[in-house]
Amino acid sequence: MQIFIDSANVKEIKEAVELGLCDGVTTNPSLIAKQGGDNKTIIPKICEACAGPVLAEVLSVDAEGIIREGRELAKIADNVVIKIPMGKEGLKAVAALSAEEIDTAVTLIFNASQAILAAKAGASFIAPFVGRLDDLSLDGLDMIREIVEIYTLYDFETEVIVASVRHPLHVKDSALAGADAVTVPYGIVEKLMNHPLTTAGIEKFLADAGRK
Ligand code: G3P
Repeated sequence: MQIFIDSANVKEIKEAVELGLCDGVTTNPSLIAKQGGDNKTIIPKICEACAGPVLAEVLSVDAEGIIREGRELAKIADNVVIKIPMGKEGLKAVAALSAEEIDTAVTLIFNASQAILAAKAGASFIAPFVGRLDDLSLDGLDMIREIVEIYTLYDFETEVIVASVRHPLHVKDSALAGADAVTVPYGIVEKLMNHPLTTAGIEKFLADAGRK
């Protein structure tokens, strides 16, 4: 399973790369705005830091605008993937850009039916949001299990990047469900690597060896 970093913070991304934990990066307009820049200023730096796919989200809402913006973003670097919100205009743009061999990712997926349409339109990736479904007392992981089952049944090549990941259990359950990737905020990477018994174990070994 691949681990993507859900961030537009270049420092965090570089840290994840150093840890060997950055198979790709997902950004969105909220994350880009948080860094005080825009796609044009921030995406090139991220593409330089991480060799994997870097998902850059369009702001246009009509198919023509999305296609135009997607073509421009694709020029930034070979590893840019155009991230497009689910919907009629988005799907039209995915079909057009994928016909030009520009990689796309459909975001804001909230059920398996939307995932089927995104794959049919030619998306290279989808980003189904688990945390926001859990917020509504729905089971985000159930959606992931359904999508993985359908994509496997029909040999869809679209990769599933689980998004809106809020805690370590989302990561483990996504792996068990067979998702291709999870995209995690850097804070969760730190939570994933820590365990109180690991810390206590290291302290005991050091104490026994007279190093503490
Ligand atoms: O990748 C999408 C993600 O950033 C959304 O997360 O926590 O705002 O639902 P969240």
